[in-house]
Amino acid sequence: MRVASPFFTFDQLHNFPVLTPPARLAVIGDPIAHSKSPQMHNPALMARGIEAQYVRVQVPVGHVREAFRLFADQGFLGVNITIPHKFEALDAVDVVDPLAARLGAVNTLAIREGRLYGYNTDGPGFLRSVREAFGTEVRDLRVLILGAGGGAGRAVAVQCVLAGCRHLLLANRTESKLAALLDELRSLTTEAVALETCSLDHGQLAARLVGVDLVVNATSVGMKDGDAPLLPAGALEDRHLVYDMVYRASGPTELIRQAAGVGARHADGMCLLLHQGAISFEHWFGGEAPLEAMRTGLMTTLAALA
Ligand code: ATR
Repeated sequence: MRVASPFFTFDQLHNFPVLTPPARLAVIGDPIAHSKSPQMHNPALMARGIEAQYVRVQVPVGHVREAFRLFADQGFLGVNITIPHKFEALDAVDVVDPLAARLGAVNTLAIREGRLYGYNTDGPGFLRSVREAFGTEVRDLRVLILGAGGGAGRAVAVQCVLAGCRHLLLANRTESKLAALLDELRSLTTEAVALETCSLDHGQLAARLVGVDLVVNATSVGMKDGDAPLLPAGALEDRHLVYDMVYRASGPTELIRQAAGVGARHADGMCLLLHQGAISFEHWFGGEAPLEAMRTGLMTTLAALA
């Protein structure tokens, strides 16, 4: 019988129990008990008729390399890596995908014939979810990234430039964090890209939104009730596309509420989670991931939390 979401400790990896179906995929992090990835991947495995299951394993900092070896020894096919292990994982794999190397972080491991391959699904997941939510490509949009100085914002910015976006406005509370990112983005392309920066000041943002199509929130603002609005009231128009990387099971964020209030199309972090999951699945098994089985699994578990 398949348990919805089995949980194991790092110590148990040394003598992993025999499960039915066998555990072949895992998500690691610390903490990890909250992860909803099993509820997305186990339905996908069933939909594809793959006799395997996806489990959660709590791995303490400093043990990622050892954990990867133990997973490989026990016949695992892949692992998702979440906070705080994405950087440690980069140094623990045998082969780093170029995008993961550029972002300096690995969040997906594929184990093939004992070799460890590291990927990063943040940027590709963002592109796919924009395509699904808005039916358009970021290369055709003028994009504002709020929180471009953070890890998630940097991944989105790099992916936008690599995908051919030609108008990118980077905003961050601490504006000084954007200088290095600007240099990096300029090194990614020989094409002319309009790269600009601004602060999160409401007056500045209101003026800048006039020349923006897609607004991406990559800050952590919105996770908590009572977080101050990122955008000034009245600044969004119905033509804007709004992508909030934050997801709250308890209800829409203030940014999503603002977007909905003016009739602007919007997407949230659940969309990103889903498409990142699908990309991981494709790294492990090839072909197209069973997206609808994954979506149903994820939505069912998140709805139960609301
Ligand atoms: P992650 O890797 O998940 O992106 P992070 O690297 O800690 O997390 O980045 C968090 C982002 O949210 C940063 O851009 C941060 O701004 P600073 O660089 O100024 O710290 C942004 N952020 C966090 N709290 C914020 C707040 N209250 N207002 C505005 N931006 C905030």
